Amino acid sequence: MVLSAADQAAVRALWRKLDTNVGVYTTEALERTFVAFPSTKTYFAHLDLRPGSAQVKAHGQKVADALTLAVNHLDDLPRALSALSDLHAHKLQVNPVNFKLLGHCLLVTLARHYPGDFSPALQASLDKFLSHVIWALASSYR
Ligand code: HEM
Repeated sequence: MVLSAADQAAVRALWRKLDTNVGVYTTEALERTFVAFPSTKTYFAHLDLRPGSAQVKAHGQKVADALTLAVNHLDDLPRALSALSDLHAHKLQVNPVNFKLLGHCLLVTLARHYPGDFSPALQASLDKFLSHVIWALASSYR
């Protein structure tokens, strides 16, 4: 899967716009995932998952940092995310179908907060970016 130069530019521009709020939106996306797809909560049974929980916020920030790392390594995502892929595959044993659920909720969350920016073209670029991240995260499963 290839992100064109235009896709890369669109994702980088959106990330610049999100600025220091990436963690806010990933946290909201996680909370949305837990409600929209409750089976995802089973992986976080050791955390307090109530809305506004500090533990979900802390985790949301970690996911945000990983996505920002990905935005900064669009040309080499498998290498940038390889340790994270190992962690999810071997230690956490997260079924990779769940990655798509979180990715979907992240798209919905960003569309709600940036309705004016969220053209079909931006949706397509962001969807390709998230698919690329998910593909890289799933690479250690085989
Ligand atoms: C875009 C997709 C995702 C990204 C970028 C991501 C990223 C991360 C990061 C950065 C960490 C922290 C690693 C560390 O502390 O060293 C983490 C931990 C974790 N992730 Fe993911 N993750 C993703 C999707 C998921 C999904 C969909 C699930 C399950 C439904 C999941 C389950 C977990 C669990 C259970 C932990 C450990 C939490 C803890 O004990 O504190 N991840 N993930």
